[in-house]
Amino acid sequence: MNRNAPQKPASFTSTNPQATIDFGSTLAANIKGGDIITLTGPLGSGKTHLVKGIARGLQTASTEKVSSPTFVLINEYRSTESTLSLYHIDAYRIETIQEFEMLGFDDLCNPDSVVIIEWADKVSPVLATIQTIDIQLSHVNPTTRQININWP
Ligand SMILES: Nc1ncnc2c1ncn2[C@@H]1O[C@H](COP(=O)(O)OP(=O)(O)O)[C@@H](O)[C@H]1O
Ligand SMILES: [Mg+2]
Repeated sequence: MNRNAPQKPASFTSTNPQATIDFGSTLAANIKGGDIITLTGPLGSGKTHLVKGIARGLQTASTEKVSSPTFVLINEYRSTESTLSLYHIDAYRIETIQEFEMLGFDDLCNPDSVVIIEWADKVSPVLATIQTIDIQLSHVNPTTRQININWP
């Protein structure tokens, strides 16, 4: 075991939007190429804010360049430092598993990319047999969000 590996947090309570972004950024220390991350939680629970932070932590894009891809379905952010790409898929408007597979999900999953799927519960059959980092977000009150993480 790498003694210097940062601890993998199992949970975090965020009390404002910036804290969610900052937490996402710290998670990047435990994320590497080939990882697939699922995000589940209701509308407004902070999924896209968390992605902004992860993108920042992976040095893939500035926070301003990351917005919810609800209408785009998938956004790519390239690292400024390496060959790593971050793919942010929003499954909110995906209606069928076929539609999801047509995005080229299988090809996106490679050692040079990190794939994050918002609304992953909508495509859970595709994810059932692969190893994923699972993050659940929930509302505690208007400005507080509970974030729980299951590392593989
Ligand atoms: N602690 C918090 N963390 C993240 N977002 C928060 C928090 N408190 C309030 N918010 C608000 O909740 C909303 C979260 O939006 P977003 O990240 O797009 O959620 P989702 O992608 O889950 O729908 C934003 O309007 C944000 O300002
Ligand atoms: Mg979102």
